Amino acid sequence: MSKQNSIPAVTDAKKISRRSFFQRLIFALAGLMTAAVGIPLVGFIFRPLFKKPPSVWRPVGKIDSFKIGETVAVTFLQSSPLPWAGVTAKTAAWLRRESTDNFTAFSTSCTHLGCPVRWRSEAQLFMCPCHGGVYDKDGSVAAGPPPLPLPRYPTRVTKDQVEILVTL
Ligand code: FES
Repeated sequence: MSKQNSIPAVTDAKKISRRSFFQRLIFALAGLMTAAVGIPLVGFIFRPLFKKPPSVWRPVGKIDSFKIGETVAVTFLQSSPLPWAGVTAKTAAWLRRESTDNFTAFSTSCTHLGCPVRWRSEAQLFMCPCHGGVYDKDGSVAAGPPPLPLPRYPTRVTKDQVEILVTL
């Protein structure tokens, strides 16, 4: 009698065990499939955050076209312009020839809210028309709300051509 009772119990235990095994197998396969799809997707989404922005040297003019001591506006292509960007692919900087082969390039964007700053040669200052921000000749903040000096671009002279290093 006790033998008959024990046989169905063993069978149930095997069924439960088999069911449990397949449940775990399904969960494991589902986890593998989720990882196979999810990891590349997460990588695709977050990759731009860790990708170093491209930098490129852009020509802004022949060295002889700039006078020593003068600050002039120059325009150049952004580092990675879109093919359909048209004129919006261009940006600008204030370029000063400091000596024979030494140039300083300042961003034209105010560090307060990004308005374009203007060079006033008579005052030897960069002025922002939006909220009265004023920068000294060296780009440091002289007055107004800008929290930081004007950013500078690295410059170089290659084969009589002045170039600015542009980063996206
Ligand atoms: S944007 Fe230049 S002072 Fe505000």
